[in-house]
Amino acid sequence: MTPKTFKIKSFGCQMNVYDGERMSELLAAEGMTAAAEGDDADLVVLNTCHIREKAAEKAYSDVGRLRREDGSKPLIALAGCVAQAEGAEAKRRSSMIDIVVGPQAYHRLPEMVAEAVRGARPVDTDLPALSKFDAFPQRRRANPSSFLTVQEGCDKFCTYCVVPYTRGAEISRPWGDIVAEAQDLVDAGAREIVLLGQNVNAWTDDKRGLAGLIRELAKIDGLERIRYTTSHPADMTDALIAAHGEVDKLMPYLHLPVQSGSNRVLKAMNRSHTAETYLAILEKVRAARPDMALSGDFIVGFPGETEQDFEATLQIVDAVRYASAYSFKYSARPGTPAAAMEDQIPPEIMDERLQRLQERINSHQLAFNRSKVGVDTEVLIERKGKHDGQMIGRSPWLQSVHFDTDAQVGETVEVTLVAAGPNSMGGAVRQKVAA
Ligand code: SAH
Ligand code: SF4
Ligand code: F3S
Repeated sequence: MTPKTFKIKSFGCQMNVYDGERMSELLAAEGMTAAAEGDDADLVVLNTCHIREKAAEKAYSDVGRLRREDGSKPLIALAGCVAQAEGAEAKRRSSMIDIVVGPQAYHRLPEMVAEAVRGARPVDTDLPALSKFDAFPQRRRANPSSFLTVQEGCDKFCTYCVVPYTRGAEISRPWGDIVAEAQDLVDAGAREIVLLGQNVNAWTDDKRGLAGLIRELAKIDGLERIRYTTSHPADMTDALIAAHGEVDKLMPYLHLPVQSGSNRVLKAMNRSHTAETYLAILEKVRAARPDMALSGDFIVGFPGETEQDFEATLQIVDAVRYASAYSFKYSARPGTPAAAMEDQIPPEIMDERLQRLQERINSHQLAFNRSKVGVDTEVLIERKGKHDGQMIGRSPWLQSVHFDTDAQVGETVEVTLVAAGPNSMGGAVRQKVAA
């Protein structure tokens, strides 16, 4: 029977969230409706992430839990990066999986659903192609802050990472398609657009780079804010840095992963930067935009990481004074060069280093938040808060800010930041900003 209702569960990065939204729009265009929260659905799409350990195992156990009490099950599509990595093997490992669809094949989902209804178990993990974007329907719904994927895939091959294998080579969407989608999102109510890519700052179209694209998008009336993530230090061009000083709508926030502060480890990771070249980039960024909030990613316990290497990581955290940062224990991924390296670090050492790193990051995060107390700024309201009249939005520096107001989701309000916590700010509204 053709499914009438569907549910899409996305895990992992923002690009999966974006893909999930687009698949949802695609299925809706086929006449299916999204099942309400808590309701059963005829079709379940598990949009998986493969970045860290036990990702595949988790996906199979999630599949197993879709069996209903009466023994029946929905139509199940395994999507995302685990689908890409497992391919046809997924069908052998779980007889419950009806469809295996990799991240570049989502345009074929409706057709694959039809095949599955007829009893086939289709698999499509072709890489790479841009066809999915052409097949997605026009954007008619948008969040105040909406994602827009402009670039996919990765050619960097950091030795620990699966992304180049699960998302394929770096490919950029065409300029015109992106501008048109941005306009549609703004027409549908978006006030902020977050440009996404595994290496978003590697985006290019006919010699034009991300800085030019941002300047073009900034011309869209009604669009108030532009962000982009995630960037690689190797693609942090002077033009992009300059845009931060010149384009008002480009928010003062940069997520620029460094992974480690030790040059020896960075070399083994095949990161193309050193601690020094990374810091030099940030110096230029801060010269262009002095109030820039900086964020990063870290891996502790990469094979061979000594206590001295780890201390270099703590030092770079102190040198940068991150406004926020994400840190992970190294996870050996099958098929990556680092998984075969000698001197894998024992879990208890990783635990201990992660804890020390996170304490250090948290103290800088709190210091950054405290430095903003008393500052007048603008907050874009993204959602309702816990109690009546409370709203939650983001400051230009991506801090979560909560405050009481009669303004609604999607409005921008002038706020004085009055209280700082480790993960959020309290605000007091001064006035609504005329739209
Ligand atoms: N393209 C982005 C995002 C990659 S995945 C980038 O280069 O920054 C997001 C983060 O997950 C990475 O920055 C890295 O810190 C972490 N990560 C990737 N592979 C990992 C692994 N095998 N073990 C632990 N963390 C990993
Ligand atoms: Fe992975 Fe490195 Fe590519 Fe980021 S740049 S996606 S960490 S291989
Ligand atoms: Fe995960 Fe794939 Fe994103 S592995 S982090 S969902 S690119």
